[in-house]
Amino acid sequence: MSELYQFVGVAKRFSGPENLEIFKDINLLVHEGESLAIVGASGSGKSTLLHLMGALDSPTEGKVLFDGRDMACMTPDEKARFRNKTLGFVFQFHHLLPEFTAEENVAMPALVAGRDRGEALSEARIMLERVGLGHRCGSSVPTMSGGERQRVAIARAVLMRPRVLLADEPTGNLDEATGAQVGALLTELNRELGMTLVVVTHNNELAATMNRSLELRAGILYEKTFA
Ligand SMILES: Nc1ncnc2c1ncn2[C@@H]1O[C@H](COP(=O)(O)OP(=O)(O)O)[C@@H](O)[C@H]1O
Ligand SMILES: [Mg+2]
Repeated sequence: MSELYQFVGVAKRFSGPENLEIFKDINLLVHEGESLAIVGASGSGKSTLLHLMGALDSPTEGKVLFDGRDMACMTPDEKARFRNKTLGFVFQFHHLLPEFTAEENVAMPALVAGRDRGEALSEARIMLERVGLGHRCGSSVPTMSGGERQRVAIARAVLMRPRVLLADEPTGNLDEATGAQVGALLTELNRELGMTLVVVTHNNELAATMNRSLELRAGILYEKTFA
């Protein structure tokens, strides 16, 4: 398997009165096509790690390579294209636009990329069908349940067939059964689309369904096994 991400001696500090050091020497390989869970206590730096992968933040020291290339060398245009086409992001809160329908929300990345509106909406409907919401294409977001909204957010994140899907506590706001459905959908999409999946989660059951789990503790990543 080839390496999609390579972290080399990555340190991250937030400046301020306490000069908060989140981690100081992260070395990590993420292989193309794998599913990886990152678990850890609240405040341990999981979101910070994911933001580095999403080019939403940059390391204080060390390098994050994507496909062999130092992400720090990306121009602002390249970063924007990377986030639009190469990357899908799912958050704990769905961040859908409430004034638009489900299909319009899902079509958004294609519209942003300048695709024809009719084509974008038709692709969005196919993706909504895939996540089990073919009957809700025209529904407005406020009429949908938490689990349905999260599935719409996932459909939007994978519409452009990204190489990598980053999910930050994707089930954190859902009840257990709905969370399990959303987790299953993520691993299915990982297999069907060959898309690399990195999930930050508190949910050990979800983590156990991934190929590999790492625990972030006191700035160090440990291999985690589920007995
Ligand atoms: N932009 C920031 N500025 C200062 N401190 C931050 C910033 N982002 C996160 N932190 C701090 O870094 C630590 C790790 O945060 P985070 O990565 O969100 O943890 P997790 O996702 O594991 O809960 C926390 O103490 C948080 O308050
Ligand atoms: Mg977090």
